[in-house]
Amino acid sequence: MGSQGSPGRAEPPDVRVVTDPAEFDLDWVATALSERAYWALGRPRDMIVRSLENSLCYGLFEGPRQVGIARVVTDGATFGWVCDVFVDEAWRGRGLGGRLVDAIVADPRLADVPRLVLATRDAADLYERHGGFAPLAHPERFMERDRRRAVQRSHGPVT
Ligand SMILES: CC(C)(COP(=O)(O)OP(=O)(O)OC[C@H]1O[C@@H](n2cnc3c(N)ncnc32)[C@H](O)[C@@H]1OP(=O)(O)O)[C@@H](O)C(=O)NCCC(=O)NCCS
Repeated sequence: MGSQGSPGRAEPPDVRVVTDPAEFDLDWVATALSERAYWALGRPRDMIVRSLENSLCYGLFEGPRQVGIARVVTDGATFGWVCDVFVDEAWRGRGLGGRLVDAIVADPRLADVPRLVLATRDAADLYERHGGFAPLAHPERFMERDRRRAVQRSHGPVT
């Protein structure tokens, strides 16, 4: 793992978006999500790997170092779920979260997908400003089948 670059505040970082998950630093991604992302605490590494394999993935890299992740679960035709948006703590507040959202909404693979949905606890304005997201028009129409506790009992922590 390289050590070039530093998360200073003065200048925007020279960061690129990588969409090939084969280039991702799985150790960084697994640690970031399972230990530092409030919605994914305890998520097993094999589940994280599988989730990347079955998603459109976006990694932020400063040189060789991964500093951010996002992914979209999609059928490529009708719908996409934006999730696991995470920027390394040391690099936050410098526009990188916005870069991730910009990369998603500009991705040609999603150009003909008419609807993207996401859930967020406290970063709604990021998605409003960068992706044009808005609160659900009809949240009462959404349902879920949440088996996380049952799966956790049989396989360990799951989120
Ligand atoms: C949310 C997150 C991805 C934003 O990354 P970032 O690189 O700090 O974002 P940016 O620097 O591009 O911020 C863009 C704007 O989003 C807003 N924003 C960023 N994080 C926010 C948060 N947690 N809550 C509310 N607003 C937030 C800020 O108002 C910022 O506007 P500003 O430039 O006027 O200050 C990052 O804080 C993070 O990884 N947080 C922990 C994980 C998380 O909450 N992910 C989102 C789950 S949906």
